[in-house]
Amino acid sequence: MKILFTFIIPAFVAAFGLLSLAKPLEERQSSGKPFNLYAYGEGIPGLQVFYADGQAQIGDMSLSNASNKVPMYVTYSDNDSLTWMAHANTTQSSRLAFKATGTTSTTNLLCLKQGNSMTNPVIFTGINTGTSTTEEGGIITETWSLYGSNVLLTQPNGNFYAKSTGKNGWWQLVWSTSQSAGLEAIPIALRTNPPV
Ligand SMILES: *[C@@H]1O[C@H](CO)[C@@H](O)[C@H](O)[C@H]1NC(C)=O
Ligand SMILES: *[C@@H]1O[C@H](CO)[C@@H](O)[C@H](O)[C@H]1NC(C)=O
Ligand SMILES: *[C@@H]1O[C@H](CO)[C@@H](O)[C@H](O)[C@H]1NC(C)=O
Repeated sequence: MKILFTFIIPAFVAAFGLLSLAKPLEERQSSGKPFNLYAYGEGIPGLQVFYADGQAQIGDMSLSNASNKVPMYVTYSDNDSLTWMAHANTTQSSRLAFKATGTTSTTNLLCLKQGNSMTNPVIFTGINTGTSTTEEGGIITETWSLYGSNVLLTQPNGNFYAKSTGKNGWWQLVWSTSQSAGLEAIPIALRTNPPV
């Protein structure tokens, strides 16, 4: 039941365009305040999203085959609450860092990659590309919002999924606008609150 609610609420909100309702809640999150992203779905009980070679992955970082794996947190961009910046959490080691493709700075925007697959990856970029792209391989940076603690996309019917890597405890974070995406990946809710 708990899991059902986790999905139905964000899906309902996205489907019925209640995004205007999200505004007052969204504004509670001040621009500088860091937050973390946790994935909730069947067999995924609130596992943290981390950086892995330019991709967003979910779960046990030690299982990931990426060469650069970094715990991260997110903040709103100074100018635009729909654009989110990812930062390396260097608490555990100051050597941990990541640099997005296309930049020399450590500004990493969390973004959606537009692909030709049913599900496409959530990645990191140094370039702010705005709200939409029709180009295959293009990226979308200005798309993130919060409804309470639920992360929503402004892409119509855009939802999050966890794609299996073949190892239990480690998934790739992907997104899709397809109603059939659940056939190839686990539907998840992305939330800012850790499991209790
Ligand atoms: C960074 O990681 C530490 C240790 O895991 C954690 O206690 C802290 O809350 C994290 N900071 C942020 C901003 O996520
Ligand atoms: C925010 O806007 C200012 C002024 O327009 C600009 O100089 C700055 O680069 C912007 N910052 C980001 C993170 O986009
Ligand atoms: C890592 O694992 C994923 C999923 O199993 C696979 O698609 C990818 O090719 C692997 N990458 C490397 C660098 O081995």
